[in-house]
Amino acid sequence: MKTLITYFSLTGNTEKVARSISDAVKTEKDIIPIQDVKNIEKYDLIFCGFPVVSHSLPPVAARFIKGLPPGKKLAIFSTHGSLRGGQLAVTAMEQAVSLALNSKVLGTFSCRGKVQQKVIDDMVSQAENRAWAQEAMGADPHPDKADLEDAREFAKKIMATSSSS
Ligand SMILES: Cc1cc2nc3c(=O)[nH]c(=O)nc-3n(C[C@H](O)[C@H](O)[C@H](O)COP(=O)(O)O)c2cc1C
Repeated sequence: MKTLITYFSLTGNTEKVARSISDAVKTEKDIIPIQDVKNIEKYDLIFCGFPVVSHSLPPVAARFIKGLPPGKKLAIFSTHGSLRGGQLAVTAMEQAVSLALNSKVLGTFSCRGKVQQKVIDDMVSQAENRAWAQEAMGADPHPDKADLEDAREFAKKIMATSSSS
């Protein structure tokens, strides 16, 4: 079984999570930025990660998930400034899952990721972004050691599910 870990990352948070996931995948694997993925057909299982942007997934990640060939096993992960498990982060992940119509979604994982101060300052002044930007002020140390350990545990569970399904 060949596994792809792919991610979109603007400031490195999602890439850190992707690398932790990759550490936990002990079978044959590639880790490739989402823009550089070429031959998707050769992978059985795909971990796909993105940062939440404007309450949703970035278009490049949406296109990737929507365009996956039928029958692929998929695990989705994200990082976000808002609270882990909070409504804002959950909604973005639900949107990602809803695009995976052709795939078999084995699981999802999300954790917080530091937001640049300049972005927070801009966003708190915009009514539609105020809620997550206020929450995002506490995202500074993330993804931290515990988040990255959780990401490795997530990957192990997905690998176990994948080999039995
Ligand atoms: C332009 C922009 C918009 C963002 N919008 C949201 C958002 O709507 N909700 C949220 O929780 N975080 C939002 N964030 C924060 C990122 O999701 C978070 O910092 C993430 O960890 C960045 O990951 P990366 O370093 O892989 O790019 C936004 C960040 C940027 C730069």
